[in-house]
Amino acid sequence: MRFSDDFLAELRSRTDIEELIGRYVEIRHRGSRTPVALCPFHSEKTPSFVIYRDTQSYYCFGCGAGGDAITFIKNIERLDYTDSVRFLCERAGLAMPLDPVDDEINRLRRRCYEANREAARFFHAYLYSPEAQQARAYLDKRRLAPETVKSFGLGFAPAKWDALIKHLKEKGYNEAELVSFDLAKRTSKGSVIDAFRNRLMFPIIDLRGNVIAFGGRVLDDSKPKYLNTSDTVVYKKSQALYALNFAKNNRERKLILCEGYMDVIAMHQAGFTNAVAGLGTAFTKEQVSLLSRYCDELTLCFDSDEAGKKATKRALSMLSSSPMKLKVMHLQDGKDPDEIIKTQGKEKMNKIISSAVNDTEFALNDSRSRFDISTEDGKLGFLNEAVAVLAAVENAIERDLYVSKLAEELNVQKSAIEQQIKKQRRFMKKAHDSAQFDAAMKTVLGDDKISSPNPEKKSNVRAVKAEEVILASLLKHPDYLKKLKGILEADVFVTEFGRRYFEDISSRIQSGRSLDLVSFNEDAENEEMAYLAYLNAKISELANSVEECKQCINTLIEEKAKKNAPDVGKLSNEEYRDLFRKKREKKKPEGV
Ligand code: GTP
Ligand code: MN
Repeated sequence: MRFSDDFLAELRSRTDIEELIGRYVEIRHRGSRTPVALCPFHSEKTPSFVIYRDTQSYYCFGCGAGGDAITFIKNIERLDYTDSVRFLCERAGLAMPLDPVDDEINRLRRRCYEANREAARFFHAYLYSPEAQQARAYLDKRRLAPETVKSFGLGFAPAKWDALIKHLKEKGYNEAELVSFDLAKRTSKGSVIDAFRNRLMFPIIDLRGNVIAFGGRVLDDSKPKYLNTSDTVVYKKSQALYALNFAKNNRERKLILCEGYMDVIAMHQAGFTNAVAGLGTAFTKEQVSLLSRYCDELTLCFDSDEAGKKATKRALSMLSSSPMKLKVMHLQDGKDPDEIIKTQGKEKMNKIISSAVNDTEFALNDSRSRFDISTEDGKLGFLNEAVAVLAAVENAIERDLYVSKLAEELNVQKSAIEQQIKKQRRFMKKAHDSAQFDAAMKTVLGDDKISSPNPEKKSNVRAVKAEEVILASLLKHPDYLKKLKGILEADVFVTEFGRRYFEDISSRIQSGRSLDLVSFNEDAENEEMAYLAYLNAKISELANSVEECKQCINTLIEEKAKKNAPDVGKLSNEEYRDLFRKKREKKKPEGV
């Protein structure tokens, strides 16, 4: 639902972010200029979560969470945007607008859902036509039952250039719409062709049952094996999960995360209806939070080859701060669940699922496999890594259990391992505290070491700083855009990230829209909100003058010129710090 700026301003003025956040966490320095709290979004012992009363926003210097009251409610209550607004309305005693501003984007979204649904129907019906004989034979070969094909709405895209386009034009859609929904592509000559041709089609369905995108697989070995809808008004692949619409209904709140479409379908067909998959992208934070809404125990089911192991480790580290219990399945010889079910049956799959190990055991097994523990050296190498793994386990009973096992397996004194773990934990606590301290100091002193969420910051330290001064200044003084006319343009920005935010902010200024965080919220992802909150947090450090912005523009021009002739001798602040850290760690070899 989209709300008017007036309504959002009213909601904002009736919501006190400090009071709101205070319902969830204990706020220190309440009422002071910068109240702080222990961040509710990651675990910490020293507060790095700062509340900004003047901009009604928050930013955590520990984990980068940030935003306004709506973002806070979205994340802490795990609600979507509209429900978060409703939540705040109820608190504020404000009536929810009955008739939202029905604007262009909403209309476009509805058109896109309808066109996608029509396309899904078209592909599905075509699967039963005489021309799709090969596709049906392929499904047979993959052992997909007719009911499975139906329930997943699988289909077939004709081996023609414009079969779908023709069909949808008859239904009243125009070419521009079909291109923007990524159902059609514009060729270099300017004509349009179907985006999916001669492919088996997998509709991707959201939690409300809308068809939001498609995956299309070739019937043979040609490349690319899969084509997927690019991001559209209704689809962000980094935020969706395949088959979650079915899997979310399982009462046990346990989900299995597989690698691909075919794995998920084979799993569901075999009765494991709690399987989901990502959509061809690496696992994302948004997917973690989506999963945790429906799941208390997540089992990773990736191939056991090197790539699969890597993906598993990456996913585990993304999941490390989530409250879900984690397990990892072991599939032999790089086989995927689809193959295992086909060749060895669902009983075997069931066994594999029930012998999934938890994340600690996975890390220990992985480490063990890299050493030859029949030798003294191998034993020691493994022990060192195992100590590091176990030191990170928070539950003391669990830790003790593994220590006992390890002592027996390696035939060493349990107390020796315990001692090493204790040392390691002390060392980790120190490192943790010092990182927390750094973060707290940064917020208090406002020095320029505050770590920017800009992913390009490492190689562009100076430019990123300059960009942030400009962006933060614009948020506070929209009139600067006019004052800097002619010298401040998108091209001035060095990083893609900075340019994107500049374009967003300046187009808002030009169209007279509000720059309150609250009015960015509908279109922004969590990460974008966090960045805007971060910029807001920076405002207090600025001179807030047009002159300052001009200097920053000059810096950006210089940096752009320099980029063509990079100076490799220069280290960034972070790199310099890393170097220093490493030296410090080396001095304490007994710590690990
Ligand atoms: P089958 O080979 O039919 O069993 O499919 P699969 O799902 O097992 O495919 P695979 O394990 O090779 O890949 C896992 C997932 O990665 C797929 O389901 C897709 O989401 C994605 N993927 C694989 N190949 C491609 C590709 O060529 N392009 C894109 N965009 N994604 C791919
Ligand atoms: Mn497969």
